Amino acid sequence: MPQPSQYWQRLAGKVAIVTGAGSQGDGVGTGKAMAYLFAREGARVCLVDLKRDRAEVTRSMIAEAGGEAFVCAADVTDGSACAQVVAQTVARYGRLDVLVNNVGFGAGGGRLETLPDELWDRVMAVNLKSAALMSKHAAPHLVAARGAFVHIASSAGLRAHGGAAYGPSKAALIALSRELAVMYGRDGVRSNTIAPGHLFTPLVEQFIDEPGRRRRRLIAPLGIEGDAWDVAAAALFLASDEARFITGVCLSVDGGVNEVAALAALERLEADAK
Ligand SMILES: NC(=O)c1ccc[n+]([C@@H]2O[C@H](COP(=O)([O-])OP(=O)(O)OC[C@H]3O[C@@H](n4cnc5c(N)ncnc54)[C@H](O)[C@@H]3O)[C@@H](O)[C@H]2O)c1
Repeated sequence: MPQPSQYWQRLAGKVAIVTGAGSQGDGVGTGKAMAYLFAREGARVCLVDLKRDRAEVTRSMIAEAGGEAFVCAADVTDGSACAQVVAQTVARYGRLDVLVNNVGFGAGGGRLETLPDELWDRVMAVNLKSAALMSKHAAPHLVAARGAFVHIASSAGLRAHGGAAYGPSKAALIALSRELAVMYGRDGVRSNTIAPGHLFTPLVEQFIDEPGRRRRRLIAPLGIEGDAWDVAAAALFLASDEARFITGVCLSVDGGVNEVAALAALERLEADAK
């Protein structure tokens, strides 16, 4: 698996919570990559996941690398579970500097009239409500530490991608981040969002074929797909004191896809097909 190449202890002394810190299968999703990189950079990390075994894999990776982390099995759509995650982290490590709201899932493609009401509610709960609940319980501790929120949205929160619930949930997450940036700015707390584009992660691996991956590369100005480490590198920067003057932004990590006009992307695909 790809590995980050340099370590500077950029989060030394800090404590972080990463939600969705496990990954499907053996690969590396964004939560696992962020938790691992944060720990390699000196943070002590609370690894939150619905599936304890997934987070345990991340904990083992971190322990093997000499880092410090513990697992909290919890459903972050449940407010009392979120309160417990925060309380356990602060009880164990004495402070909280960084909250990463990473959980999310992309269901509900197709036309709105075919979307079951329960699926709309579930997407909003996992992708948006979880971030509000975790942020609510983390906020007093982040204020005490002059810490940072980092939220993992999606390019689907910036441009329409064809899912009636996913895009709106991620757009609202970006808006939530902006509100937090303004609400807690005077407390020295920063809030920023990352909008990943086409990543090749264990989740995506299940439904994309090679022609689909090739199309993704063709429309990207950089000509490549991203992976979870690209998101982790951006999150590390936003979580660290290096970003002390940055708040309220949404950083696209997408190879430049968000900057391409639809017609230009189509022309690239058509030129390739000739
Ligand atoms: N993979 C991509 O290409 C891509 C692109 C854009 C945005 N994103 C966003 O990145 C984030 C992570 O994606 P990934 O591909 O790494 O996902 P993933 O499914 O590999 O990992 C997410 C983890 O979150 C856990 N989880 C799910 N619901 C939970 C809940 N209610 N409480 C606690 N844990 C829960 C899962 O068990 C899983 O281990 C998501 O927010 C996703 O929307 C991913």
